[in-house]
Amino acid sequence: MSNDSTNNKPFRSQAWLGGVDRDGFIHRSWLKNSGLPDDAFDGRPIIGICNTFSELTPCNAHFRDLVEHIKRGVLDAGGTPLEFPVFSCGETLLRPSAMLFRNLAAMDTEEAIRGNPIDGVVLMCGCDKTTPSLVMGAASCDLPTLVVSGGPMLNGRFRGQEIGSGTHVWKFSEDVRAGKMDSNDFLAAESGMSRSPGHCNTMGTASSMASMAEALGLALPGNAAYPAVDANRNRLGRLSGRRIVDLVHEDIRPSQILQRPAFENAIRVNGAIGGSTNAVVHLLAIAGRVGVDITLDDWDRVGHDVPCLVDLMPSGRYLMEDFCYAGGLSAVMKRIENLLDRDALTVNGHTVGDNLEGVECYNDDVIRPLDQPLTETGGIAVLRGNLAPDGAVIKPSAASPELMQHHGRAVVFESLEDFKARVDDPDLDIKADDIMVLKGAGPKGYPGMAEVGNMPLPAKILEQGVRDMVRLSDARMSGTAFGTVVLHVAPESTAGGVLALVETGDQIRLDTQSRELTLDVDDAELANRREYLTTPEPPMSGGYQKMYFDHVEQADRGADLDFLRGCRGAEVPRENH
Ligand code: FES
Repeated sequence: MSNDSTNNKPFRSQAWLGGVDRDGFIHRSWLKNSGLPDDAFDGRPIIGICNTFSELTPCNAHFRDLVEHIKRGVLDAGGTPLEFPVFSCGETLLRPSAMLFRNLAAMDTEEAIRGNPIDGVVLMCGCDKTTPSLVMGAASCDLPTLVVSGGPMLNGRFRGQEIGSGTHVWKFSEDVRAGKMDSNDFLAAESGMSRSPGHCNTMGTASSMASMAEALGLALPGNAAYPAVDANRNRLGRLSGRRIVDLVHEDIRPSQILQRPAFENAIRVNGAIGGSTNAVVHLLAIAGRVGVDITLDDWDRVGHDVPCLVDLMPSGRYLMEDFCYAGGLSAVMKRIENLLDRDALTVNGHTVGDNLEGVECYNDDVIRPLDQPLTETGGIAVLRGNLAPDGAVIKPSAASPELMQHHGRAVVFESLEDFKARVDDPDLDIKADDIMVLKGAGPKGYPGMAEVGNMPLPAKILEQGVRDMVRLSDARMSGTAFGTVVLHVAPESTAGGVLALVETGDQIRLDTQSRELTLDVDDAELANRREYLTTPEPPMSGGYQKMYFDHVEQADRGADLDFLRGCRGAEVPRENH
């Protein structure tokens, strides 16, 4: 019988599978119905493979193939792989918002890991929310854990042009509304944009979170960049399967990897890749699971001044295939090595510094040298003021420089439905230097903090040739989106934030340089307006959505459920029979 090498005790799974009694019979016998031999349970590590395959999560729909490579790797190394499903949060189809269900998927993952005879777990992540949800759940159990991402789609191509997931949807739809593209051409671009299995091929949220998993040290080098259909992706899966068995033997757990230096490394890397604003919320939530006190201000302090080196859409020109061929995330980390904590531990047992030995960049256009960055500051700016006392974020690399300091008149939309109903009304009273304000799109309000912060511009503004305006909300925005968009305003309007009190005609001051976001309305008037606020109702009177509404925290805390913060370990005191 093999043991945990650090304490010479039998592996955790032996509590289920090692008994020579009635319970041991039950646990082994049913598992044998798939053809597993006796020696599958002879004390070797049992590796759970947490698979978010779903045809309703198209970005992860190739996971039935990828999982076989991971299983082979586990078998190579002398482990027994057991695959299990968890709730799969697909970004494109789930209503009202995939983010509403991130915490549900995290709960599912946590309980599935804890409740089963698992010694270590491989998390199969891909589409945006599937990475944070699985990492959050696994972090709350703290068994040896390794992330395998599904990899991006091949570059999109349409009529001789390279097109990016999401980014070109926003661009083309604005072109249609401005009369620069006809709807037949628009629809014809669908097939060209998604040419292969995989997640979004831009540096959107999925690519950012795959990069975060690698930068945090939870995935093997190469995880972020190999396209889904590249044989290297399958090879990475196989090597990850082998490595998780070693991780179990070495008893290396997320709590040893997810320490403050790892988060600070990830924040800096997110700046260097021009990563998604969604990474802010997700990393705050992951940090909350392991008790590391990372705050919104750390994002600004640690990451804001990191130059954006990666020239990928939505901030730049290229796509994830190009990123892979240029050297991937390792090449980026090599370029900012002096900013990173080289001693941070990673799942391959080596430090960040070890992993960066000998790493090269193969294309300086895609991953730029430090002295030729895409933008001087790639990170996130955290804004505060009476409009966002607990913070709001803006991504300078995706914004228009001339709008970063702006004083304008608010044009308020009370909800997304109100916005959709009025945005293209020719009588809408709006000018290009106004500030579009959206309420009711935060964690409680939407519910689920939808990706609607990058509101499309009014048709009458587009027709003037204008392509950007300051937009402000308690929502998130897709990592594939761009523009001068102030997001994650906290507290949100539905939680009684000052955002709820903004009226059309108010003046708002945005100063990214001084990190200021101010509503120019005096306190007496705000107090008067507050008298008329009504108490919001939960979206449903019962079920998960009621629980979510009652317990979700604000964006500056990661929008986790308050009772899910922290690590609860993997102990299960009682037998189930
Ligand atoms: Fe799944 Fe973009 S929609 S990764």
